[in-house]
Amino acid sequence: MTDRLVFAGPASGEFANSLAKRLSLPIVSVDVKEFSDTETKFRVDENVSGASILVVQSTYPPVDKNYMQLFLAAHHLSQEGAKVHAVIPYMGYARQDKQFLRGEVVSLGVISHLLRSTGVSRVTTVDIHSAEGLALFPMPIYSVSAIPALVQYIKRNQKLSSPVVISPDFGSSKRTEAFATLYGAVHLRFSKERDRITGQVKVEAGALDVKDRDVIIVDDIVSTGATIRAAAEKLRKAEAGRIVAACIHPLLIENAYERVMEAGVDELIGTNTVPSKVSKVDATEPLASYLRTLTE
Ligand code: R5P
Repeated sequence: MTDRLVFAGPASGEFANSLAKRLSLPIVSVDVKEFSDTETKFRVDENVSGASILVVQSTYPPVDKNYMQLFLAAHHLSQEGAKVHAVIPYMGYARQDKQFLRGEVVSLGVISHLLRSTGVSRVTTVDIHSAEGLALFPMPIYSVSAIPALVQYIKRNQKLSSPVVISPDFGSSKRTEAFATLYGAVHLRFSKERDRITGQVKVEAGALDVKDRDVIIVDDIVSTGATIRAAAEKLRKAEAGRIVAACIHPLLIENAYERVMEAGVDELIGTNTVPSKVSKVDATEPLASYLRTLTE
């Protein structure tokens, strides 16, 4: 079997080390230099020819910089004769997977082609925003689900009595349904409208029967916090009990955490695909389970 190695991208050092440990794989040693104009330079003084390398780099903000580092590493390693498998815990641009307004660039398609042209032959990510995005990739791609890990964490660490699981919008309902099934809880779906020009979010909840009931709002991403905030406001008005918000990718742009908490959320929980103060659930475990099933 070909040697399997892990390349820890600068955005995912800790994550990649923990993944490598789980898979008992060595880490490629690399010198990373950042110039004062923010350009990155890598130097890999190791023979990687014939190896199969998991290049682990999450693409949370600064999204473009983190992608550029991934492209630089992938290109170099593939030019040196390695087979490159990009492991992208949070896939930036995945929300731009179709045209919502005429003339918009389907940016995820551009990213997929840049990955291919820099020598990436396989991609693995965690809970891609929408399964539709997978079709834009010209190479094998798989999205691992960290939902079971989130369920397990919340069951162990939150005292909730027969909670109701809430999808804040239609897009997240499949993921939320899976969460509710694994948890053994009922599931309710809100509907959300986002103004495609201003970005403003409006959530409709209909008649809500959650008085004194604990709830778990589940979404893939918390970015500005507007979606969770709008859902939490509805739930507080309906006199819900404890409100836990759970997400896979806690981007938490600017004061998103405070915005969410001010709306009455008691606890916000995310995974470590994006490092943050709420990244309590370890997504390297489901990722490693999937990667073990591949032969290279
Ligand atoms: C959108 O469709 C996603 O599933 C999330 O609901 C959204 O990205 C969250 O963004 P924000 O926190 O800015 O509302």
